[in-house]
Amino acid sequence: MKGIILAGGAGSRLYPLTLVASKQLQPVYDKPMVYYPLATMIENGVREFCLISTPHDLPRFEQLLGNGSAWGLSIEYRAQPKPQGIAQAFLIAESFIGSDSISLILGDNIFYAGDSFRAAFDQFRSGAVVFGYHVHDPERYGVVEFDSQGCAVSIEEKPQQPKSNYAVPGLYIYDNQVVEITKSLRPSARGELEITDVNVTYLQRRQLQVHRLNRGFAWLDAGTSSSLHDASAYVQTIERRQGIKIGCPEEAALHRGFISLAHLEKISTEMPNCEYRDYLLNVCAEAKRTPVLGTASE
Ligand code: TTP
Repeated sequence: MKGIILAGGAGSRLYPLTLVASKQLQPVYDKPMVYYPLATMIENGVREFCLISTPHDLPRFEQLLGNGSAWGLSIEYRAQPKPQGIAQAFLIAESFIGSDSISLILGDNIFYAGDSFRAAFDQFRSGAVVFGYHVHDPERYGVVEFDSQGCAVSIEEKPQQPKSNYAVPGLYIYDNQVVEITKSLRPSARGELEITDVNVTYLQRRQLQVHRLNRGFAWLDAGTSSSLHDASAYVQTIERRQGIKIGCPEEAALHRGFISLAHLEKISTEMPNCEYRDYLLNVCAEAKRTPVLGTASE
């Protein structure tokens, strides 16, 4: 399964922070925001990425993440000249997708999920999989309604009167039909190719699965200055308490066996003296004491 990280958009709610660097490059506690969705995808086994951002910000993402080889990944970059909708990503990345299935994550979505997505990724064969997360303000999102059997019966984008409290977070999995479906969409009233319209098409084809996420799951929004601050505080609280990092691509790559322990040790020692380096060296030391499942051998 390939992955798209969508990291464009206007970031207008974070102005003036976003005057110079895009939203997804802003720090969330101790790392750039885009590290979190990237690590989520790696944890779920995605190794081949296409990162989409604005022509202005794309060079900075390339500077930050490179071609991904240091983390056992491949990362391609594509520009979205204007924010014309999340679903436009499938048209921009059409040649990257080729004949594969594709997962898409929004570059400003932070999940603290354990292995909540794991089964959905591992067992995906065809159709589409999205998730439902209970929120207090569903009218801000795509909202999914379930019948008494727990099956999704409708999805509406930013409804004035939501039919449930279940919002669809910014992580989606599709088979290859998604390109053809997106090509058949018309822009919405706000001029965007809507991801909700893609999901509705799969629903009409009876090919949409919606997995409800349980209570122990955190989905953080970092789109306004106060929610960005809250996300940082949340990450700091967990990291300090547990002594583990959230959103660490190097560690996720080690756990998935994308890089070896020796490689992680090498790239960590090349970092400047900092807490992040100390953390990764500690991950290496711990992995030597208790070998990490799936670690690639040299
Ligand atoms: P939003 O938060 O809806 O929009 P935004 O990031 O432009 O912020 P603001 O409302 O403050 O102007 O977008 C959600 C995510 O999707 C975010 O990571 C940006 C990304 N996105 C794109 O990359 N391209 C698009 O066309 C759209 C609509 C969103």
